[in-house]
Amino acid sequence: MALTREDALRLDAQDPLAPFRDRFVIEDEHKLYLDGNSLGRLPKGTRERLHRVIDQWGSELVGGWHDWIEAPTRAGDTVAEVIGAAPGTTLVADSVTVNLFKLVNAILDAQSYAKLATDQDNFPTDRYVLEGIARARGLELEIFEVDPLLGPQPADVPEDALTVLSHVAYRSGALADISAFPESVIWDLSHSAGAVPVNASAMRYAVGCTYKYLNAGPGATGYLYVREPDTLVTPIQGWFGQARQFEMERPYEPAPGITRFLAGTPPILVLAAVEEGVRITAEAGIDALREKSIAQTDLLIALHDQWLDPLGFTLGTPREPHLRGSHVSLRHPEAWPICKALIERADVIPDFRGPDSVRLGIAPLYTRYVDVYDAIDRLRDLVERGVHREVDQTVSRVT
Ligand SMILES: Cc1ncc(COP(=O)(O)O)c(C=O)c1O
Repeated sequence: MALTREDALRLDAQDPLAPFRDRFVIEDEHKLYLDGNSLGRLPKGTRERLHRVIDQWGSELVGGWHDWIEAPTRAGDTVAEVIGAAPGTTLVADSVTVNLFKLVNAILDAQSYAKLATDQDNFPTDRYVLEGIARARGLELEIFEVDPLLGPQPADVPEDALTVLSHVAYRSGALADISAFPESVIWDLSHSAGAVPVNASAMRYAVGCTYKYLNAGPGATGYLYVREPDTLVTPIQGWFGQARQFEMERPYEPAPGITRFLAGTPPILVLAAVEEGVRITAEAGIDALREKSIAQTDLLIALHDQWLDPLGFTLGTPREPHLRGSHVSLRHPEAWPICKALIERADVIPDFRGPDSVRLGIAPLYTRYVDVYDAIDRLRDLVERGVHREVDQTVSRVT
């Protein structure tokens, strides 16, 4: 039986997470924002918290550091809660790119590996970081092919290689089963943390971002997880990672615990936003978020089958819920003009991911079932009417 808008409204009425939507700034109800997997929405609490931190700066001046000094580990412990890691193992600092650079070098300084490895479909920055480190250290980098729909499998991981993989593939949304891979893999959790439970007990190392499902804002710092942080030393030896930081005459000695991965002065305003964004996710509970995300991606896929399949779309994401994360890629030869038409003519915000994917992200904290229904309905309508052929097809700088 065909799905109807009433079905979607009924699911929203039964949704236990529905009240969380009110905690976010939503200025335009007609705009369907399905891009929380690139940049999450602004939590109302973040706006208030940032004002408080700015006021604290104004009134306490340098004295504020007594509170701010703990911000990277305090935010890290909140991220740890969301990824199922122990307190003291996770640090919020720097971008994902820089964290990966620090982590790979720190591991190579402590352990011997014959080569580095990642998969061809991994996010570009992960590949670029590994290329640079391989060049600098004279190591081989193996970039192996994977099934683009299913992502990397345990058998693909080369022996003797320090391997970096994404938990959820940025294009297809394929979800890896961390516990089936060697513990030594470095996981990029950017597309999973906040939407998918992470089995931190099965991994030793991870990095990830906070601006997608964790709603920390544009350019917010990422995080780094090391199960046993005292076994590694960061390659960027800065004074914030120094034991007894304010005894300045002493030679460098790494601080105990995950703090040693800090380099320079952390961005305090950003960290306040990270704490707020991540706290909402922790409050909602990752299992409840995952349940809703599966139901909503199921709905999206069912609507694809109902309407889009006959219009030349194919599903670029695994159908089985346990094999996918929280975004769905709809493949079409005219994906770029379709994305532009969605934004300009239909008020639906997707991502375009080349060569041919319209990527739609479900952020279960605030996406409604009816948003999914309406977005696919508008997509169907514009492709049926050929509206995507009327838009300017110049590729823009950000897609
Ligand atoms: C999977 C993945 N890894 C890494 C990054 C890049 O992170 P950053 O820009 O914080 O270095 C992104 C950005 O979208 C990403 O999706």
